[in-house]
Amino acid sequence: MFPLTATIVLAALAPIALAAPYVPKGGLGTNSTPPVYHPLSDFDVQSLSLALYQEYIELDLFHYGLAKFSTDEFDAANITAEDRFLLEFMADQEVGHANLITNILGPDSAPKQCNYSYPFETVRDFIDFSQKLTRFGESGVYGFLEHLDSRASANLLLESIATEGRQQMIFRQFEGLFPMPVYFIPGITQSMAWTLLAPYIVSCPENNTVLAWQNFPGLNITNNPNASTLMSDNYAAITHNRSTPLSQPGNTLNLTWEAPGKNVGPNNMYNTSTNAGEGKYVAWISQLNTTYTNLTVLSNNTGSTIQPDESFINGTMFVMITDDNPVITPFNVSMLNDHIVAGPALYQSG
Ligand SMILES: *[C@@H]1O[C@H](CO)[C@@H](O)[C@H](O)[C@H]1NC(C)=O
Ligand SMILES: *[C@@H]1O[C@H](CO)[C@@H](O)[C@H](O)[C@H]1NC(C)=O
Ligand SMILES: *[C@@H]1O[C@H](CO)[C@@H](O)[C@H](O)[C@H]1NC(C)=O
Ligand SMILES: *[C@@H]1O[C@H](CO)[C@@H](O)[C@H](O)[C@H]1NC(C)=O
Ligand SMILES: *[C@@H]1O[C@H](CO)[C@@H](O)[C@H](O)[C@H]1NC(C)=O
Ligand SMILES: *[C@@H]1O[C@H](CO)[C@@H](O)[C@H](O)[C@H]1NC(C)=O
Ligand SMILES: *[C@@H]1O[C@H](CO)[C@@H](O)[C@H](O)[C@H]1NC(C)=O
Ligand SMILES: *[C@@H]1O[C@H](CO)[C@@H](O)[C@H](O)[C@H]1NC(C)=O
Ligand SMILES: *[C@@H]1O[C@H](CO)[C@@H](O)[C@H](O)[C@H]1NC(C)=O
Ligand SMILES: *[C@@H]1O[C@H](CO)[C@@H](O)[C@H](O)[C@H]1NC(C)=O
Ligand SMILES: *[C@@H]1O[C@H](CO)[C@@H](O)[C@H](O)[C@H]1NC(C)=O
Ligand SMILES: *[C@@H]1O[C@H](CO)[C@@H](O)[C@H](O)[C@H]1NC(C)=O
Repeated sequence: MFPLTATIVLAALAPIALAAPYVPKGGLGTNSTPPVYHPLSDFDVQSLSLALYQEYIELDLFHYGLAKFSTDEFDAANITAEDRFLLEFMADQEVGHANLITNILGPDSAPKQCNYSYPFETVRDFIDFSQKLTRFGESGVYGFLEHLDSRASANLLLESIATEGRQQMIFRQFEGLFPMPVYFIPGITQSMAWTLLAPYIVSCPENNTVLAWQNFPGLNITNNPNASTLMSDNYAAITHNRSTPLSQPGNTLNLTWEAPGKNVGPNNMYNTSTNAGEGKYVAWISQLNTTYTNLTVLSNNTGSTIQPDESFINGTMFVMITDDNPVITPFNVSMLNDHIVAGPALYQSG
């Protein structure tokens, strides 16, 4: 793996042409121009607005969960008083993140907090939902951060999303899962993140920023592995060697998906759509890779696929139905958007 070592050592000894003492040539935004922490394009405004929609739902979600369940219910799920303080602190972090992005966008044009609807009735399901929501919150930003025109804004957003990654891992620990069964965190496109987020937003203030991103038709893994049912060997802890994985290669995923043209999102003002043809594959975005499995179509909008035998398929990942299997790498995930028939949905392994 390291045949380059000798070359690197020799290069290090050779004189390096410097821009100034101790300043190697190259780099961007490293001169004395004062940074401007504002969007520089519609792409920036729309990406940052999406991130703000995400921060606001997290803020609401953590408060909602803390208020909805009693102390007894939390205790019964082994979420202690100190754990609950950590949850409260996470909500405070979201206030900070929402303020940050609001200031980048400008308070007049930044979207405001909305009303939400959540699919859980128990503490375990609240924690599981939070684990998944923070996964697409984090991955949704990694998908566009490197494409922003405003590198200064990207700097600030990165420093907030680093916190979000920690939250996601803590939710896995609250669930009793292995905290991070991956080497790399995947990035997804804005349209993928918005597809996952929009169904939980019921209504927003009048004039809230309308997002330009696409809402793909919904995808449901009807037999999705469910971490909240695995209580006995899954009490909250820094880590567990899980005796049985949530899922493993060879598992069948049963899938149902919606036809396009459904109204979704705040005030039902968005409409699902697809640019793709007939579904042929299931795309799996996990760690650095996008890989594909064959889709077996059972009837209209119902089918199945098999979890591939790849070690990078682990943790909470993104699966979607596609009409083709183009080669995708982390810097060009957006090339997949036009091939999405439905999804993404979140799939749990590890
Ligand atoms: C949220 O819902 C409440 C109660 O229905 C309503 O009064 C309020 O206007 C809604 N707020 C937003 C931002 O949609
Ligand atoms: C929404 O925008 C319209 C047109 O700019 C304006 O007249 C109205 O007051 C705005 N409503 C709110 C709640 O900001
Ligand atoms: C997904 O499928 C499961 C199992 O049939 C069902 O319980 C659940 O309501 C479905 N979810 C959605 C969002 O349709
Ligand atoms: C997981 O299982 C629990 C308990 O049966 C159920 O309440 C919950 O809805 C399931 N979660 C998902 C995401 O299907
Ligand atoms: C709570 O956690 C302890 C270990 O800290 C474990 O022994 C116990 O079984 C857990 N209780 C539940 C309900 O999971
Ligand atoms: C945890 O799992 C690893 C990898 O399978 C194994 O090497 C190790 O012995 C396990 N440790 C315990 C305490 O179960
Ligand atoms: C899941 O898919 C498999 C393989 O296509 C099929 O045999 C099975 O009947 C499906 N299960 C359900 C519950 O639809
Ligand atoms: C949603 O999109 C479909 C086509 O995908 C179109 O037929 C329908 O009129 C649209 N509905 C709304 C409310 O925009
Ligand atoms: C997954 O990504 C790694 C690292 O980039 C690469 O070595 C490997 O070949 C990829 N696997 C697949 C199946 O694409
Ligand atoms: C996927 O489908 C292609 C084309 O029908 C076939 O050649 C290939 O063997 C299939 N792969 C698997 C793993 O079934
Ligand atoms: C699938 O949809 C087509 C067109 O709507 C319809 O003619 C056909 O009967 C459907 N097939 C099944 C198995 O539902
Ligand atoms: C996922 O990660 C866990 C924890 O490291 C490991 O035990 C498991 O074997 C991994 N799964 C796959 C399919 O590699």
